[in-house]
Amino acid sequence: MSQKPLTIALSKGRILKETLPLLKAAGIELLEDPSASRKLIFDTTRDDVKIIIIRATDVPPYVQHGAADIGVAGKDVLMEHGADGVFEPLDLNIARCKLMVAAVNDAPDVGGRLRVATKFVNVAKAYFAEQGKQAEVIKLYGAMELAPLVGLADRIVDIVDTGNTLRANGLEPTELIAHISTRVIVNRASMKTRHSDIQAILDKLAEAVESRK
Ligand code: ADP
Ligand code: PRP
Ligand code: MG
Repeated sequence: MSQKPLTIALSKGRILKETLPLLKAAGIELLEDPSASRKLIFDTTRDDVKIIIIRATDVPPYVQHGAADIGVAGKDVLMEHGADGVFEPLDLNIARCKLMVAAVNDAPDVGGRLRVATKFVNVAKAYFAEQGKQAEVIKLYGAMELAPLVGLADRIVDIVDTGNTLRANGLEPTELIAHISTRVIVNRASMKTRHSDIQAILDKLAEAVESRK
């Protein structure tokens, strides 16, 4: 085989476990169990396809810059990163959740500038600007729910699924920003130069997604 292998970038963490069966249905299986390995690049049952497993937030830059041809990432991560240089042809319909604004229960209105803690800085800035509300956005890397409890912020912007994490911390969702699920993204140049290979994988993935509904 003269052409370089197609590279698929997967998010480690909660998306990975649900992504692997869909890839398997599309005829692509890892030759090694990634949870039992320190490797970052994996061979697959197709010798023209390799898989890299990286942090969810790193998937968009790998695909945007063409280091991976295809990527799998949450819509939240894609919204935060921006979609320059990538297509988003398929919704895998897994890891469904909501991106929401939350506050302590019965939080009072804030007259002036809202302090908002989040890891989704760009999404939060755009959202509050659109609402015509002044916001000072404080970047955190996790456990956003803590911020309003210790006086760091008036609001958070975070993922909500069952609502258990909010409830356990005396918080409640106040506004929905977006419904989230896991998407397949494709490098724009790869989509042209390797169209038939990539389209065949997308078709099989779409079929696997449909058959689960
Ligand atoms: P991270 O370590 O960056 O938080 P996760 O593995 O927790 O990554 O989440 C990966 C993706 O799964 C997120 O980008 C989001 O799309 C989705 N997600 C995050 N939290 C939840 C949740 N509690 N329930 C369902 N989906 C979620
Ligand atoms: C995610 C998210 C929320 C929680 C929401 O956290 O950041 O904290 O899940 O889910 P729930 O509504 O069902 O409680 P995660 O478990 O991924 O932890 P981390 O991202 O902070 O490591
Ligand atoms: Mg998480």
